[in-house]
Amino acid sequence: MLVFRLAVIIHLFLQLNASVCPEKCECILKDAIRCSGPGIEDLASLGLPTNMTHILITNTKATDLKDKVFSGMTVLQRLILSSNQLFLILPGAFKGLVKLKTLKLFDNKLTQLPTGVFGEMMDLQQLILENNLLKDIEWSLFDKLVNLQELFLNKNHLTELPEGVLRNLAKLKLLNLSRNYLAALPRNIFSTLTRLEKLALYMNRLSSIDSGVFDNLRELQELLLHSNGIQSIAPGTFHNLLKLKSLTLSQNKLQLLPHGLFLHLHNLTKLTLYGNPLGSLPEILFGEMRILRSLWVYDTKLSMVPDFVFGNLTNLELLVLTFNPELSVLPRNVFSGLNELLTLSLHTNNLSSLPEGIFQGLQKLQEISLFHNRIEVLPKNLFL
Ligand SMILES: *[C@@H]1O[C@H](CO)[C@@H](O)[C@H](O)[C@H]1NC(C)=O
Ligand SMILES: *[C@@H]1O[C@H](CO)[C@@H](O)[C@H](O)[C@H]1NC(C)=O
Ligand SMILES: *[C@@H]1O[C@H](CO)[C@@H](O)[C@H](O)[C@H]1NC(C)=O
Ligand SMILES: *[C@@H]1O[C@H](CO)[C@@H](O)[C@H](O)[C@H]1NC(C)=O
Ligand SMILES: *[C@@H]1O[C@H](CO)[C@@H](O)[C@H](O)[C@H]1NC(C)=O
Repeated sequence: MLVFRLAVIIHLFLQLNASVCPEKCECILKDAIRCSGPGIEDLASLGLPTNMTHILITNTKATDLKDKVFSGMTVLQRLILSSNQLFLILPGAFKGLVKLKTLKLFDNKLTQLPTGVFGEMMDLQQLILENNLLKDIEWSLFDKLVNLQELFLNKNHLTELPEGVLRNLAKLKLLNLSRNYLAALPRNIFSTLTRLEKLALYMNRLSSIDSGVFDNLRELQELLLHSNGIQSIAPGTFHNLLKLKSLTLSQNKLQLLPHGLFLHLHNLTKLTLYGNPLGSLPEILFGEMRILRSLWVYDTKLSMVPDFVFGNLTNLELLVLTFNPELSVLPRNVFSGLNELLTLSLHTNNLSSLPEGIFQGLQKLQEISLFHNRIEVLPKNLFL
């Protein structure tokens, strides 16, 4: 009798619950629902309630988003569809989602996105398309996303960006285009992104940085360009980036750098140059950088380093000039101005001698490494 009553109660409870929460989902909060697992293939048949503000559908076998699958969900703010098998989204899939602020579609199999698919999301702030198979994107795809702050397109198969595709994203703060196959950047691609703070372009196939491409990015703090095939950078490329803190240029194909390239970057805390076949450095390269504490220049083809070149790096504590197999000459005043330097690494170069007094003025120096060179005799007055 008791068992029977219990069964009835459980049955009733389940029925009641089912009327609110679909069978394959969990209603985690009053207005949030989570549906996940390989048992889910067709999202339309889930019976999602239309009054949720948060929907999370992950790790399912769903392959497509049909038109109106979220219809009537006018209060939905966060829609997380990451780590499914999605490869097709129909143009009307997100129709009516006018309140959406976050849309996460990362870790799926999307190869393209239809025209107008984000057409009603005026409030969208974050769009994450990371780790899909997107080959190209249509020039008007993001036109309506005037409030977007973060756009993640990294880890896709993009080979080019259409001119103007970002033109309406005036509020964008973060743009991640890393790990694609981008070979070139249209001249005005970033020209309206005046509030951009972080731009990641690393691990692409860029071969040049052309004049003016970053000129309007006056709020930029982080610019990641490492691991491309960059052979040339136009003079003045970074001159307007007065707020830049982090700039990575390592692992490219730079043989030379234009005169004064970093002259205006007074706020840099991180600058990477290693892994470039640099044959020389211009005499004027760095402006005053009071916050820069370390600089690594290794794995280059430098045969000499000009006098006074580090003269503006007055707070540098660590300078690494190593693994430069052709580096055979260091002039007398090459380290002039490095008054705060603590550690100087010069090992694994091709130095056969050092000029007298080369370490003069390095009053704080605690450590020098010189092994793996061809030095036979050290001059008498190295430190005087
Ligand atoms: C959503 O709708 C269901 C069924 O109409 C109702 O029971 C529930 O209270 C609603 N939830 C919210 C957050 O409005
Ligand atoms: C994408 O770029 C942003 C900005 O630099 C960074 O914070 C984020 O970690 C990057 N994501 C990946 C996966 O690299
Ligand atoms: C440089 O950084 C300092 C400290 O973070 C900040 O107060 C200053 O406004 C920055 N300068 C520029 C030009 O952004
Ligand atoms: C040091 O920086 C100033 C401007 O900040 C510049 O005029 C000068 O040429 C720089 N000196 C060197 C040796 O780079
Ligand atoms: C190292 O220096 C010697 C003597 O200056 C020179 O003959 C040799 O070619 C240099 N090695 C490299 C890899 O440049």
